[in-house]
Amino acid sequence: MTFLGWHRWIGLFLGLFIAVQGLGGTLLLFRQPLNHLLHPDAYTPAAPALDANVDAVRARGCTITRIDLPDRATDPLFFQLSCSGDPFMATAGGGQVLRLAPLNDWPLEWLFQFHCRLAAGTTGEQAVGWMGVALLALCLTGLWMLLRAARRDGWRGLFCPGWPKASLRRWRDLHRAVGLYLVPVLALLSLTGIGMAWNPTVTAALPVTPRPSPQVAPRPDGALLPLSTFLNRAQGLAPSSIRLPGGHGRVVMVMQGRADSPDYEQFWYNGYDGTLLGTRRAGERAAADRFMDLLYPLHTGSLLGPVGTILILLAGLSLPCFLATGIFLWSRRRGPGTMPMLVSALSRDGTDVLLITLRHRFGLPLPCIGAGDHVDVHLPNGLVRQYSLCGRPGRRLSWQIAVRLSDVSAGGSAWIHTHLKPGAALRLGRPRAHFPLSSGNAPVLLLAGGIGITPLLSMAWCLWDRGRPFTLLVCARDRAARPLAAAIAATPLAPSVRWHDSATDGRIDLAALLTAQAPETHLYTCGPAAFMQAALDAARTSGWSPDRLHWEAFAPATASGPAFTILLNGKAIAVAAGESLLDRLLGEGIALPHSCRRGLCGQCVVTVRSGSVDHRDSILTPEDRAAGRMTACCSRAADAGGELHLSLTP
Ligand code: FES
Repeated sequence: MTFLGWHRWIGLFLGLFIAVQGLGGTLLLFRQPLNHLLHPDAYTPAAPALDANVDAVRARGCTITRIDLPDRATDPLFFQLSCSGDPFMATAGGGQVLRLAPLNDWPLEWLFQFHCRLAAGTTGEQAVGWMGVALLALCLTGLWMLLRAARRDGWRGLFCPGWPKASLRRWRDLHRAVGLYLVPVLALLSLTGIGMAWNPTVTAALPVTPRPSPQVAPRPDGALLPLSTFLNRAQGLAPSSIRLPGGHGRVVMVMQGRADSPDYEQFWYNGYDGTLLGTRRAGERAAADRFMDLLYPLHTGSLLGPVGTILILLAGLSLPCFLATGIFLWSRRRGPGTMPMLVSALSRDGTDVLLITLRHRFGLPLPCIGAGDHVDVHLPNGLVRQYSLCGRPGRRLSWQIAVRLSDVSAGGSAWIHTHLKPGAALRLGRPRAHFPLSSGNAPVLLLAGGIGITPLLSMAWCLWDRGRPFTLLVCARDRAARPLAAAIAATPLAPSVRWHDSATDGRIDLAALLTAQAPETHLYTCGPAAFMQAALDAARTSGWSPDRLHWEAFAPATASGPAFTILLNGKAIAVAAGESLLDRLLGEGIALPHSCRRGLCGQCVVTVRSGSVDHRDSILTPEDRAAGRMTACCSRAADAGGELHLSLTP
């Protein structure tokens, strides 16, 4: 699998985890104000009387593991507890418990616990650590691809993604631009997060000073000192929390300074007599200890003060956009972008056209289709082919495509005609609209050459449903070669369909046909290139305005042609005769998106900065071409030996 493939799959499976961790981490930056907002009843101003509050909490049968001391004298105390073995949170002030609730009742605290893996125990720490490793891999593959893309396309596309419109590339650029900021931040957060989640493993590998872990034996006849005794000793040294390892109170640890400051200090006391059992002071810590102590402030951004908080806040806010664009891009290429389908019916009507009816494999409703839409059909032999959906738009339970056996099949139509059976499984892409029907009520002439009827048939259904006047004229070699004639005859469309058989009716007089149309009629034509060209030329000669002419090439373009040269990022690359530009770029290690390879899907569009192009696709509009866009799979330099200066950004 390619780097991009790994990146996408890891990103997809980590997406939810990243979202929860990112949300939890970002909200944690504002933990207290948000808790004030969410639980105003738990923050009623009340002077925090420590011992009375501890007694009040203990009277509920809870074991205290930690007490966070408030910054403001009137704020309540914040307790972390275990009641009946389950984690609880409590606030207490003025000698009474203001709010005691299981962790699930404090969504923010639940996120905090999840984020910090505390509630999950050793297994959770391991899981969070491994998730961090996967996130780091995701960041590194993303960063590597970003740098490669910047070297290939220039930095401009990364910094100026443009507002996403219909183009997939715009979303990709937006994803990259957000990633450019987010990836280094996420990499730092995952690295520091791994260090904290696997603290014992990391510290075992570093020359850290062993942390004090004093133990005091229980004294059945001895009473524990009130916690305020220990707090009083620490007054003036900015105590931030009191911890009771094991929850029994025989050992009391007082934390001086915030835990996200590298200068914090810890003091352990005997809970019975108040003797000092051990210390961990800032000035006494070895270099390895100071390194480990930096992980937390780096992770929370507090090391850089408000700037760090803002940087992490921005990362948290841009995370949803990053995830959404990543999932959107993934879904457009695979997974939800293709659907498992079953062939529910096949019918031949004596011609070389096979009418295929498809349903969702699990009976689910299919996406809405528009008139003229087409889909990618992913064949089991690895080929991807585009076919127009020729059924009635609005039908959500089945789709229809019609496939003519091509005389020069490259494996698509031949495989379908030979191997496809009712009940066969196929994957289909989402419908794409490259040949849309105009709005309005003007009459429409649908002019099909042979199998070019397929997109026009769905248009005919749409026009019939809307009550808009139309004629569908289908040109065929002879009566026996009329495509889908039997299927059409059984529908209400039949009276609106006219057939022209050149064997009996002679060559069609396009000029007379077009001149006879009502003013304002729109022409939609599809079929062999020469047929469409003749129709369009006749329409132009008859004075039809360009906005009333619509066409879609039926025959796919080929890339054959003489050699030419491209200039890309200052490097000259020769494209050999008969070789496509797309193949040349792929051969150079440039992962240009592509699908149909026949100028039909528009995924391989590049930008031409200078040089003249022989456009062979059926997808780009005159405006696209005027803006310098070309499809790399089939279009080439207009002149033999010509030179095209390219950029890979659209
Ligand atoms: S790959 Fe589909 S247009 Fe080029």
